[in-house]
Parts: sequence; C-alpha cells; structure tokens
Amino acid sequence: MQNSRITTFKLKDMKTRGEKIAVLTCYDYSTAKMLDEAGIEVLLVGDSLGMVVLGYDSTIPVTMEDMLIHTKAVSRGAKNAMVVADMPFMSYQVSVEDSVRNAGRFLQEGGANAVKLEGGREITRIIKAIDDAGIPVMGHLGLTPQSINKLGGYRVQGRDEAAGRRMLNNALALQDAGVFAIVLECIPAPLAKIISERIDIPVIGIGAGVGCDGQVLVIHDMLGLYTTVSPKFAKKYADLHSVILEAVGRYSSDVKEQRFPGPEHSFDLHETELGKLY
Ligand code: KIV
Repeated sequence: MQNSRITTFKLKDMKTRGEKIAVLTCYDYSTAKMLDEAGIEVLLVGDSLGMVVLGYDSTIPVTMEDMLIHTKAVSRGAKNAMVVADMPFMSYQVSVEDSVRNAGRFLQEGGANAVKLEGGREITRIIKAIDDAGIPVMGHLGLTPQSINKLGGYRVQGRDEAAGRRMLNNALALQDAGVFAIVLECIPAPLAKIISERIDIPVIGIGAGVGCDGQVLVIHDMLGLYTTVSPKFAKKYADLHSVILEAVGRYSSDVKEQRFPGPEHSFDLHETELGKLY
C-alpha cells in the first residue's frame, strides 16, 4: 500500500521543484478532516490556540496538556497532511532531557509527525537531541510569540542589517542542527527571500512575503473567526464571524417563534400508543 502522508522528504522535494507549500494551523478533528480533504500539506497545531481557542491574551499560558489534547484531535482527522505540534512555552527551555521527553509525547501520545520550536542558535543543542531521538523538528524565527516579553511587542523583526544577518545566521544554524523546515514570522519580505534562497530546507512564511517556499496562516484569522486582533499579514478568505452571527440569530428567532423544530426534525408516536397516554 502506498503511503500518501506528506513527509519531510516530500516537502524538501517541493522546494527543489519550486512548488509552494500550503500550511494552516488546526486545532480540532472536524477542521483537520476538511483541511486534509482540501489538500493542505501541513497542519500546524500552533500554540496560537491559546489565543484563538482558549481566549488567553498570549501563547505563554499554554501547557503541554492543552497542546496534547488538540494534537490528538487533529491527528485523528488528518490522513494525508503532516501534523506538526508546537512545543509550548517551558516545555523545551529547561533541559535537554525534558525537551526530548516532551517532544516524544507529541508523537507517542498526540500522533503528530513532527514538532516546532521557537528560537535560533541558543536552542540548537535541544534541536539536535530531539532530532537524534528520531523526531523531525521545524524551526521558527523572527517574531517568536513565546518571547513576547523580551521582544517588547508584536512587531516586525529583522529591520536592519545587523538583525537581518543575525536571522540568516540563525537560519543556517537551525539547518545545521537538523530542522526540516523553518517558519519565518513577521519579517521584511526581501530578508525572507534571501533566507529562503540561502538555505536548502523549506522556509514557510507568515507575514514574510511571497519569496518563501510556502505560507502559513492561523485558520481563525483567514476564516474571519477571531476578531480580537487582526495582524496586517492575515488575509481574510471568509467572514465566518458574520455567517455564524446570521445563522445563530435565525436559529434564536425560529426557537422563539416556534418555527423550529418542524415535523421533519421531530419524532412521531403511533396514535394507539398516544391514546394510552391520555
Ligand atoms: O502558533 C502558531 O500558530 C504559529 C504560527 C503562527 C506559525 O506558530
């Protein structure tokens, strides 16, 4: 039987052939089934779920247990897409042993195919150890939301030559450490293009311009489901917020006006049985 699952090798091959890679975040079973059916190559169980699903104002409070519940749900729905689980804050910063154990849980318990970690040169020791354990690792540079307190806000990164060079060097260091792809978040498009051209592994951009090897968006942003904040780079492909408000409003008035449930949504009782009840 041929395995149609997207692998790190298939992604690398797509880069080589110049075929762009479509990645979306995903947090539940039903959405995973739809994205899989649509042919999205990678489903990222992002710790952005802390904001768009759990209602926190950053990704910092997200725990391993939160991530595992959602990773399991997505893995059950994804038959062909690669499932990448985001390692949450403090699951890989404490020690190498901790990091490998936590990364392993995403594959063993969560059913994921790979994990993602935020950071550059400073985490290459951890990436190597996870990779040595047979766990594919995706890197993440630029705006790294788990470091928001250090970065001083959600703003574009790598805007001058020194910062740009640092990012390129970090990308090369991550590649040497064994990552199979790198997410570049919220950086100038020309810098992302240079990095994509200088490294051999796929670069997936979010707010990083069209020169990357693929793109990722937060599904709640692109479907218009999360209205608390909306980054400039998040193109809205649908306005499900309005669709849901309209549908829920109609339901509510149908209930109040007794238009729902109709006979087609109700179960009848044979009249002889009904008679006995009176
Ligand atoms: O958590 C997330 O959703 C992410 C993407 C924005 C890349 O890391």
